[in-house]
Amino acid sequence: PLVSIVSGTGSYAPDRIMTNFDLESIVETSDSWIRERTGIGERRIAAPGQATSDLAVLAGKKALEMAGISGADLDGIIVATTTPDMPFPSTACLVQRDLGAGKAFAFDLNAVCSGFVYALKVADSMIKSGSAQKILVIGAEVMSRYLDWEDRTTCVLFGDGAGALVLSASSDPRSRGVGKMALHADGAGWEMIYVPGGGSRLPASSEVVAQNLTKIRMKGAETFKMAVRTIESSIREVLALEGLTPSDIDWVIPHQANGRILGAVGQRLGISEDRFCLNIERYGNTSAASIPVALDEAVRSGRIAKGDRVVVTAFGAGVTWGSGLLTW
Ligand code: ACO
Repeated sequence: PLVSIVSGTGSYAPDRIMTNFDLESIVETSDSWIRERTGIGERRIAAPGQATSDLAVLAGKKALEMAGISGADLDGIIVATTTPDMPFPSTACLVQRDLGAGKAFAFDLNAVCSGFVYALKVADSMIKSGSAQKILVIGAEVMSRYLDWEDRTTCVLFGDGAGALVLSASSDPRSRGVGKMALHADGAGWEMIYVPGGGSRLPASSEVVAQNLTKIRMKGAETFKMAVRTIESSIREVLALEGLTPSDIDWVIPHQANGRILGAVGQRLGISEDRFCLNIERYGNTSAASIPVALDEAVRSGRIAKGDRVVVTAFGAGVTWGSGLLTW
């Protein structure tokens, strides 16, 4: 049987750093409020003219380099994003062009902050079914373009970035790679986090833009509770599918939305904080990019070793959530 293994990882963060202190001069907030409530210290902001595909290409190139392949070797590219360059074509097609990935199919997948976990499951299924050998899976976002810089309850939370991995087919019986995954959604919760305008329901007229309807709206406290509940249950679900317990897990690479959410999840599962790969302090919430960026950092720093069991887990707007097991 075919197995999908991670043969390369990469990430990219824009150069411009916006600290909590910088935000103090934009909205009524403070470094201590943001740190205490979220764990965020700073975030990266894309340069003017820098779009999601630009970030995605830079992360993708690094993943290809680690995998020792070129764009021409890819069978497919999936970009998880909720902030595409434009409504169409897909961001993935622009990435395909820039990477010279002539034989690769390319499409975007939108599950907001859960997008990377969803995309990993799609790529894994395609590899296991034999329909592709090498797929570049990218999570990339320029969230800063969707922030209302007058709304302190949201603008302090998000940042820009991109992370990528190459998923490759292996028929080596010793390979482990991507294990069980579980995805979920509950559209009844769509109003928890959303951008009202700019789509087909409320096109981006000058009035819609003037009313800030093309920017993120969020019910923070409700989202917090939903996140703790869904992350805990979906990690338990994947562990049960694998016949494992929390103590069998070496690392959790979570979607980085709020350090307190992850602290609560760790406590409920009995997984200590030092087994969570966290970088929220430096990047804030980068939506679909947060897991692959944290994964790349953990791989490159040598934190994740051969044989380690890694759980990836996410929740996001939709609402959507899901988890999966990777064995290194
Ligand atoms: N600076 C200072 N004060 C603030 C700020 C700020 N940036 N933002 C809100 N406040 C104030 C509020 O106005 C409120 O004041 P009040 O008591 O006078 O009304 C007070 O701080 C407390 O506000 P709460 O909303 O109760 O604060 P809470 O502890 O819930 O923290 C937060 C808010 C950080 C947003 C939290 O609810 C949270 O992290 N929720 C989850 C958000 C999340 O994960 N979103 C991403 C989802 S992923 C995706 O798909 C996009």
